Amino acid sequence: MILKGKRALVVGVANKRSLAWGVAQSLAREGAELFLTYQSDRLEKGVKDLADTIPGTKTLMCDVMSEAQVGAMVDKLKHGHGHGAGLDILVHAVVYARQEDLEGEFKNVTQEGWNTALDVSAFSLVSLTRAVAPLMEGRHGSIVTLSFLGATRAVMNYNIMGVAKAALEASVRYLASDLGPKGIRVNAVSAGPVRTLSAAGITGFSKMLDHVQERAPLRRNVDQGQVGDAAAFLASDLSRGITGHVLFVDSGYNIIGV
Ligand SMILES: NC(=O)c1ccc[n+]([C@@H]2O[C@H](COP(=O)([O-])OP(=O)(O)OC[C@H]3O[C@@H](n4cnc5c(N)ncnc54)[C@H](O)[C@@H]3O)[C@@H](O)[C@H]2O)c1
Repeated sequence: MILKGKRALVVGVANKRSLAWGVAQSLAREGAELFLTYQSDRLEKGVKDLADTIPGTKTLMCDVMSEAQVGAMVDKLKHGHGHGAGLDILVHAVVYARQEDLEGEFKNVTQEGWNTALDVSAFSLVSLTRAVAPLMEGRHGSIVTLSFLGATRAVMNYNIMGVAKAALEASVRYLASDLGPKGIRVNAVSAGPVRTLSAAGITGFSKMLDHVQERAPLRRNVDQGQVGDAAAFLASDLSRGITGHVLFVDSGYNIIGV
């Protein structure tokens, strides 16, 4: 129970395959009180059904692109009950790019496609962090986001998402630098490929899974639970000496050369 007494906001659950749902389950198992958000009415029922499987879990609507919805969410967390007002943990597991920007040649990306992917997938970490940081002061807050190897390597068809993940990882370092003096840590888990709704949008994703299974030192793909447990570690005081870091949970694939 490494997270007993902590309040966690998990942004990015769409369905039971979401990595954010894996993280939520690990955080709950370790004793955290959970708030799950859903992006829109369309996802509300599914996320509420999942939340109902973890007693005490609350749900909130939040489209991260809406300043008003982020503000309303922060207000609700401010006046919370349970472990009291405030927040100890933010999990950011939000990503979006247009389908046409996840195939073919990267050079064909449009300005609109670029802006959309960077806004939703990277800027949202900065805006959410800014919004929740005041709730975390004085409580050893921890912020964890999810990244991918495409941030630092050219991965076929990942294209604009690689650029967005590079911006995300750089943001992790700058936010860690800003918030460290306030005792708030910011880290990323770089997960290996896992079949989720968003992953289905990447052309040739099944081939990526096969390739990692064949080549990774552990000769297997990772799952939601492995990503969730690493995020729980980064969210907990066990990782109190770690900030601005990208932790790979990918069966070791990132260390492989020829
Ligand atoms: N699946 C993988 O192979 C893999 C690997 C490494 C990293 N990741 C990262 O994990 C994170 C979660 O993705 P996933 O694979 O679980 O897919 P997913 O589709 O289950 O989750 C993506 C989430 O982003 C949310 N989202 C998109 N736009 C939003 C907005 N405007 N406001 C609020 N929420 C919004 C969606 O509602 C969804 O819940 C992403 O950052 C993704 O890049 C995934």
